[in-house]
Amino acid sequence: MVSAESDIERVLWTEAEVAARVGEVAAELAADLRALTEPAVVVGVATGAFLFLPDLVRRVDAPLAVDFVRVESYGGGTESSGKPRITADLKVDVAGKHVVVVEDIVDTGNTLSCLIAHLEKKGASSISVCTFLDKPARRKVNVQLVGDGKFYSGFECPDCFVVGYGLDYAELYRNLPYVGVLKPEKYKKD
Ligand code: PRP
Ligand code: MN
Ligand code: MG
Repeated sequence: MVSAESDIERVLWTEAEVAARVGEVAAELAADLRALTEPAVVVGVATGAFLFLPDLVRRVDAPLAVDFVRVESYGGGTESSGKPRITADLKVDVAGKHVVVVEDIVDTGNTLSCLIAHLEKKGASSISVCTFLDKPARRKVNVQLVGDGKFYSGFECPDCFVVGYGLDYAELYRNLPYVGVLKPEKYKKD
């Protein structure tokens, strides 16, 4: 028998804690999106945001469009390459639109700064960021919001390698409904 759960050393936020906090962030975001005069475009960053985004937007009663981009910088390891690549682009035209980028985690900030520059070039009138986890201890690049953009964050993450609720190690563990710390022997080669 194999299990993903048995590779977790400790749980940081349980499924219930995640759901409660996502509800709070959704309420904050909803209040802001309902004050806009036109629908926002919610842009999920695949793959990591694939659980947070639907849990969030289903709790936001405001007119909005949903689209995805794919940005990759970690490959199979635990360290950022520092050179994110946009490997799948938007379908929706964001020119003149309020964009809300939805992420699972902001770590070094490289992914977001690359994506924000890309969205700004496409003419987004404001760019907000809504991230499930924020890990400020590892930041290398400040996240520069655009226009009236705001920064929404679920939890501040300690400086350790976490998985679950969208976050992976080598594409695994994303489906865990909680956030946990992976047992070090699962990713250390020695
Ligand atoms: C992870 C995570 C964020 C980004 C954050 O994506 O989902 O998108 O890294 O790291 P940063 O702030 O240091 O750039 P990853 O490249 O692992 O792709 P994935 O979403 O497919 O897992
Ligand atoms: Mn990602
Ligand atoms: Mg990843």
